Amino acid sequence: MAILKVARMGHPVLVRKADPVDPSHVPRPEFQRFINDMIETMRDAPGVGLAAPQVHVPLRLFVMDPGPTEAGREGLAVVVNPELTFPGPEKIRLWEGCLSVPGIRGLTERWAEVEVRCLDRDGRERTHSLEGFPAAVVQHETDHLDGLLFLSRMPDLTEVAFEEEYARYRAENDSPPSED
Ligand code: NI
Repeated sequence: MAILKVARMGHPVLVRKADPVDPSHVPRPEFQRFINDMIETMRDAPGVGLAAPQVHVPLRLFVMDPGPTEAGREGLAVVVNPELTFPGPEKIRLWEGCLSVPGIRGLTERWAEVEVRCLDRDGRERTHSLEGFPAAVVQHETDHLDGLLFLSRMPDLTEVAFEEEYARYRAENDSPPSED
């Protein structure tokens, strides 16, 4: 396995729409190796999610591991060709970070619930129903596949902070931040 280089804000790969994965490619050894490298890169960072464009590969897949939540344990997931639907009207706000926007956090607005149809790492069709933090991670990562960073999901651009100022002035009163 290998740690991959993460593209930073300003790199063209982060603002283009990624291409669908050919499902017949998923079982191939080189594709499986790439998934393993993405997982290792996410864990090394450390982060709770990593999308392929962030490691300079413009394909529609991401890995995520949002960890335990109030709703229960959400384990590692490999998500290929996601299609999102939003079953409820509720939204949540949370402070997000991004491995491609190092050192910065911003208060974003996301759908509280999401249903994800996708392929898993074995190429099988899967559906995940998520809410709260894991749902926000899915939306953050899917945005990467569409060329969007979390800054585009901030209703109020005054709610952006460097890590140090976030920790000093904002963290106590807010939900845990994510680093995707
Ligand atoms: Ni990100």
